[in-house]
Amino acid sequence: MDFSIKSGSPEKQRISCVAVGVFDSRKLSVSAQLLDDASDGFIANLIRRGECEGQLGQTLLLHNVPNTLCDRVLLIGCGREKHFDIKAFKKANSMVATFLDNRGATEVFSCLTELNVKNRSAAWKVNHAVQATDGALYCFDQLKSKKENTRRPLRKIIFSVPSRRELPEGEQAVREGMAISSGIKLARDLSNLPGNICTPGYLAEQAKSLAKTHRNFKVGILEESDMEELEMGSLLSVSKGSRQPAKLITMEHWGGDKSQEPVVLVGKGVTFDSGGISLKPGGAMDEMKFDMCGAASVFGVMSACADLQLPYNVVGIVPATENMPDGLATKPGDIVTSMSGQTIEVLNTDAEGRLILCDALTYAQTYDPDVVIDIATLTGACIIALGNHTAGLLGNHSPLINDLLNAGKNSGDRCWELPLFDEYQQQLDSNFADIANIGGREAGTITAACFLSRFTKKYRWAHLDIAGVAWKSGKNKGATGRPVPLLMQYLFDRIGEEK
Ligand code: BES
Ligand code: MN
Ligand code: ZN
Repeated sequence: MDFSIKSGSPEKQRISCVAVGVFDSRKLSVSAQLLDDASDGFIANLIRRGECEGQLGQTLLLHNVPNTLCDRVLLIGCGREKHFDIKAFKKANSMVATFLDNRGATEVFSCLTELNVKNRSAAWKVNHAVQATDGALYCFDQLKSKKENTRRPLRKIIFSVPSRRELPEGEQAVREGMAISSGIKLARDLSNLPGNICTPGYLAEQAKSLAKTHRNFKVGILEESDMEELEMGSLLSVSKGSRQPAKLITMEHWGGDKSQEPVVLVGKGVTFDSGGISLKPGGAMDEMKFDMCGAASVFGVMSACADLQLPYNVVGIVPATENMPDGLATKPGDIVTSMSGQTIEVLNTDAEGRLILCDALTYAQTYDPDVVIDIATLTGACIIALGNHTAGLLGNHSPLINDLLNAGKNSGDRCWELPLFDEYQQQLDSNFADIANIGGREAGTITAACFLSRFTKKYRWAHLDIAGVAWKSGKNKGATGRPVPLLMQYLFDRIGEEK
């Protein structure tokens, strides 16, 4: 999509379509009013007849509106003006894209970026309008032999800003929105690929290709033999039952000062989780190809950082493996030694995420991190606790937790804190090893985080459980790219604070 910025009156745009908002009920936005004034009440007239109430997501396409230079005017319902929030803003923008794609108009001047969204700057609105547009038009058809061709795709969107003064920051916002969008797209593509294509080796190759196209970007791949040398017995215990060798992928973006300690992101990269010997039931098992969505979000963030040449140091670590049953696979009751030296009794081979993360989290120490954030589709229990709207958040440092909660609010990609109280730790007691890898039925998301907390004592750490938000099931099954928006917002907020 070709995105750009312009300031100017809607009635003076010589273009195939101008999109303006209408609030519920029947209230014209400022830009809609300008078109109405120019056309002697043409729009208000239609609305009075009940053609468009302004409910969120409603659309009405008008042709030949008098005294305007555009071929069409698209009215977009924006819901109640009082309730016009981040969610409504995104919905309205995605409606412009999905409505116009494959219709007559291939170019649009969108005035939706001029609507007031509480506490949001013009730049924020442009950035998120870009993300909402690309997100709405996303389609994963790489693996269909016949693609559904869009005959007249929407090609160009010009977002309106109030005055020429906003042009420079608007243009920067377009660049940022596009970089984040393409990071989200990368995350969704990698996640949607099936387990027979997106293997640990495939992810390693993807990382290498990111290094080829970007400056200041370093990639490292640790093979199983390297992991043995580092004594990552926990990570290796998960890949033992698989024919696909595990990889520990590191991606480094050094955009900041040499002396600046990096933000380290660790993403769970289980490219297929069968449960191992503790085999999962068959229903919806295909969705366990999404068990690398945490890893995919790290790829998305790293590529956005590199695209933007973000003036910050960010490191991504991805432990990538399959979890499969096999004659050599780890069995319930097996005891393994992690890189940290702590021994782990594997009571359930399906609690494999924490087993690979713990070694990656120990390895993260070698980067002298400022903070470490891990992102993982870790527990089904998180879906029971928070459903599909909000990621679970736990950690050992409350300022970091608050920063992530705020980044979630500011990006619309929200998370919510669960407690990591000491009382839960005893659920992980083991008769035979230092720690068990499961903590019983109760508080499953919390005990999973308790397990990780045993390996993150030396630095500030937060954990995002994205089991509920990383993909959608049902008819529109597919990856969402979350929490790339949240993590990018977190990085932007940090850069903003240091300025
Ligand atoms: N990848 C799953 C978690 C998961 C399940 C995410 C369903 C999204 C949807 C994880 O590896 C797992 O199997 N967790 C177990 C842990 C249990 C054995 C303690 C779970 O949640 O059932
Ligand atoms: Mn599992
Ligand atoms: Zn898993």
